[in-house]
Amino acid sequence: MWHRSARRAALEGSLSNTHSQTYARRPRGVGHGRLLIAAALLSMLAACDGGTQDASAGVENGTQNGTQNGASAQDAQARSKANAPVNGAKLIKISASTAATPTAQLIAQPTTQPHAQSRAEVYAQVRRMTALGKQMFFDPSLSGSGKMSCATCHSPNHAFTPANALDVQIGGADMHRQGMRAVPTLKYLQSVPAFAEHYHDSDDEGDESIDAGPTGGLTWDGRVDHGGDQARIPLLSSFEMASTPAKVTAAVRAAPYANAFREAFGEHVFDDDNATFQAVLKSLETFEQAPEVFYPYTSKYDAYLAGKTALSAAELRGLQLFNDEKKGNCASCHISQRAKDGAPPQFSDFGLIAIGVPRNRTLAVNRDPRFFDLGACGPERTDLDHRAEFCGLFRTPTLRNVALKKTFFHNGVYHSLEDVLRFYARRDTNPQEFYPVVKGKVKKFDDLPQQYWANLNTEPPFDRKPGDAPVFSDAEIKDVMAFLDTLTDGWQPPAH
Ligand code: HEC
Ligand code: HEC
Repeated sequence: MWHRSARRAALEGSLSNTHSQTYARRPRGVGHGRLLIAAALLSMLAACDGGTQDASAGVENGTQNGTQNGASAQDAQARSKANAPVNGAKLIKISASTAATPTAQLIAQPTTQPHAQSRAEVYAQVRRMTALGKQMFFDPSLSGSGKMSCATCHSPNHAFTPANALDVQIGGADMHRQGMRAVPTLKYLQSVPAFAEHYHDSDDEGDESIDAGPTGGLTWDGRVDHGGDQARIPLLSSFEMASTPAKVTAAVRAAPYANAFREAFGEHVFDDDNATFQAVLKSLETFEQAPEVFYPYTSKYDAYLAGKTALSAAELRGLQLFNDEKKGNCASCHISQRAKDGAPPQFSDFGLIAIGVPRNRTLAVNRDPRFFDLGACGPERTDLDHRAEFCGLFRTPTLRNVALKKTFFHNGVYHSLEDVLRFYARRDTNPQEFYPVVKGKVKKFDDLPQQYWANLNTEPPFDRKPGDAPVFSDAEIKDVMAFLDTLTDGWQPPAH
């Protein structure tokens, strides 16, 4: 099994190599897919007419609602350190190590393509696509039912998670079909690396020989690498937007933004359903990378890291419990410290991990006792089926804005942070509180067949047994909750 702490050790500059390597590293470099995106965009740019039109419907429109646009200088600084490098060398480095690289960075790379656009033209095209992507994100006419947009499940006022507290959402052509997974946030996905079975951190300070195990990719099981490929999933899913490329094309052609769409993608874009569909996916992907909406770094914790504010006593205690390797050890997966280059933490290392979340018996799919959502080994993801070592693994979510969520874990089994923290604190010391008890015997890990239990993480906080003290007392749980509250964007210094 892999050690998440290997990643943390790498981040902290300690080079102890404790894991055993099971597979040879795949030859595919993590940057490969991104170069393809760049090529696709460049050809799109070549196809677009000129690229100098007015881009007034630009990124500034992207800052509506819950996300903040009143960013302070320090926020801007944190942002630019983390994700928006504008100078050449850093730009190339970042785009070679992250999957959801902001499109602007990708296409701003020097290129030998014959139809290369100037940097200004490229940025103008990104602004157009961002504005279009935003309109489509909120447009229910793209769905088969005509009633569901991306924002139905990814509400901007709730960090792009649902406004309701359902375990999983309801969709489909008749709006009666239940999904099988809880909706993740769309914020802070910009540095999720492309999925790799064996992730080797290319950070300067890391030891590249350290294998952090399966890491990256979008969705709970990491099955796609790019926002465009991801957007295809809900648009076509029978239990989500239940649409088709032809329906999407017809909707865009009739939409108030049809002319802007033609301006961005060419007069003839609507002649071909597939070309239109691809342009829709690319626009959604581009919108999802607007920094001021999706990764503003405006939480109290960011201000604290920048030395602009202090944490309360409870918040500080919570942070210590969160970081303490013998207590929560949360930061070994949900990284809480700046990287060596100063980039603010994402609160995830994007590793795919099995933590034995209890089965959610209210889900329709789970009425069949033989059905299991095994994450990376299927059924939603299909390329790793029959690979037992991937069963039960789900991608570690960011904890930024987690206090705005109403549903937690991949199957939506919990509805309060307190319940999630009790699970972490008492899963192994008091398992009967979380799993069914049959004839006096606790059926632990009831959502993962026993043959896959070897995949379960066993590092703290998952290293205890009945009779041991829980990882956190009830008071400590409150402190960790207070700390998690500091991760919500849009913090303002108290008025005095
Ligand atoms: C019916 C609810 C629903 C709708 C509508 C919906 N999504 Fe999602 N979204 C989900 C769920 C559930 C997941 C997790 C899916 C999984 O793990 O298989 C998800 C995952 C994602 C992710 C990956 C997040 C991550 O952490 O990797 C992105 C990006 C995303 N959705 C974007 C979109 C876009 C763009 C649209 C509109 C085209 C959209 N979604 C429409 C429910 C929805
Ligand atoms: C070994 C890696 C690991 C450690 C250690 C860890 N987590 Fe997690 N965390 C995960 C994974 C993986 C998930 C998703 C699990 C799932 O849904 O199946 C998760 C999910 C969560 C969620 C739910 C987020 C959401 O959007 O649904 C919260 C909250 C959370 N963790 C907090 C913590 C806290 C607090 C600690 C320390 C007590 C901690 N985690 C320790 C890997 C880890």
